[in-house]
Amino acid sequence: MTGSAERLFRKIAVIGQGYVGLPLALLFAKKGFTVLGIDVDSRKIEALRQGQSYLPDVRDEEIESSISAGQFYPTDRFSDVTEADAIVICVPTPLNTQHSPDLTILEKAVGELGTYLRRGQLVILESSTFPGTTRDVVRPALEKGSGMTAGIDFFIGYSPERIDPGNDKFGVEQIPKVVSGLSAECLEYAGALYSRIFDEVVTVSSLEVAELTKLLENSHRLINISFINEFASICDELNIDVWEVIAAAKTKPFGFTPYYPGPGIGGHCIPVDPLYLQWKAQKSGVWSKFIQIADEVNRSMPAYVADRVKALLVRHSAPEHAHVFIYGVAYKKDINDVRESPALELIPLLVQSGYDVSYHDPYIPEIEAAGRTYRSVDMNEDTLRSAHCVIIFTDHSVIPVEAIVAAARLVFDTRNATSGVPHHGNVIRMGAGEGAL
Ligand SMILES: NC(=O)c1ccc[n+]([C@@H]2O[C@H](COP(=O)([O-])OP(=O)(O)OC[C@H]3O[C@@H](n4cnc5c(N)ncnc54)[C@H](O)[C@@H]3O)[C@@H](O)[C@H]2O)c1
Repeated sequence: MTGSAERLFRKIAVIGQGYVGLPLALLFAKKGFTVLGIDVDSRKIEALRQGQSYLPDVRDEEIESSISAGQFYPTDRFSDVTEADAIVICVPTPLNTQHSPDLTILEKAVGELGTYLRRGQLVILESSTFPGTTRDVVRPALEKGSGMTAGIDFFIGYSPERIDPGNDKFGVEQIPKVVSGLSAECLEYAGALYSRIFDEVVTVSSLEVAELTKLLENSHRLINISFINEFASICDELNIDVWEVIAAAKTKPFGFTPYYPGPGIGGHCIPVDPLYLQWKAQKSGVWSKFIQIADEVNRSMPAYVADRVKALLVRHSAPEHAHVFIYGVAYKKDINDVRESPALELIPLLVQSGYDVSYHDPYIPEIEAAGRTYRSVDMNEDTLRSAHCVIIFTDHSVIPVEAIVAAARLVFDTRNATSGVPHHGNVIRMGAGEGAL
């Protein structure tokens, strides 16, 4: 890292103040940079200006103190990017209805950014995407908008975001940062910037290597978690407890990595990113059978849970319009994110079966599912007793599992949250071979 590279960066613009962009903006601010937190959602900007966080991992005080120290400026004025020395893009990269990459949001952001770009700025894409996006989508849009040449007049890099919302063991800065650049100079600048805020920077030889690194990580998780979900359903049929099998297998000190069953994988990353890779592979005439199967297994999980619950209710002679109460609708514990949550698929399946569905999630006040809005209801002894079945869908750390088990008539636990909790035969743990109960 050269001294000149270090001196280049004082003001940073982070485009997109969501799960990725906000913690990153606050990390830059904490490390002494002046940060513009840019978002098109004016409600988010207003909340930030009031020092209010909308993410469980970010405390109000972090926002307040960064703003009052003059380090953090939330804004919905995109043109402010001209003031920045470096611009980091953290906008969503979802799938379209055909389950293919939808880069509309990114294209709009870089289209606009191009018109404000000025000489010497460094632009880094952090959104997860298929290899070639930074070179073939971002670069031409910025060059077209600015009339300048990337690598000469301004600099481009790609660095995958590897944040794990809800994980208090690894803060953003402790996760090694993979960094790439369009040219050697771009890489030098991008590396210099990130090495000032991350404990470890891992530079790679091309934009595409960095882009594919993220897709490898998330495809690896999708495939392995889908496999353990399939394995868990086999264990159910064999009347063998998958949780005990995993616990035993992981005593092997090498060559085995434990993954844990659940009601399906959600979120903006793991079910989505592998399909970005699949799309890109297909364009090149190849195809990942593993991703295809893992995606299929993952998509089948809400139906698997619904079928198990239906069978249980029938076995327990529940009425036709039984009340099913769901604890947790977030796609994983301790977060307030329902994007791609399998709960949004499970609820319509239960409703179609004639059940009256309600839910409680301490982090999610309302959701849209089965064509209507559901509001999180209070969870007390009465709510639990009145349900014919309680599904433990998300195992938030604050789950009052003993109280649920004590009050509920039937519990279908998709997360092994009730393991070791005394019960009176009213608890079925998914994958534990307890189907016959
Ligand atoms: N959420 C995660 O855990 C995670 C982890 C690693 C990587 N990623 C990747 O990071 C990217 C962002 O994900 P996220 O979860 O932070 O999404 P998010 O929806 O939480 O945040 C994105 C923000 O960008 C804003 N935005 C959209 N268009 C904009 C524009 N033109 N200008 C300014 N702001 C704009 C949105 O209003 C939103 O607030 C995605 O590519 C995702 O795959 C996410």
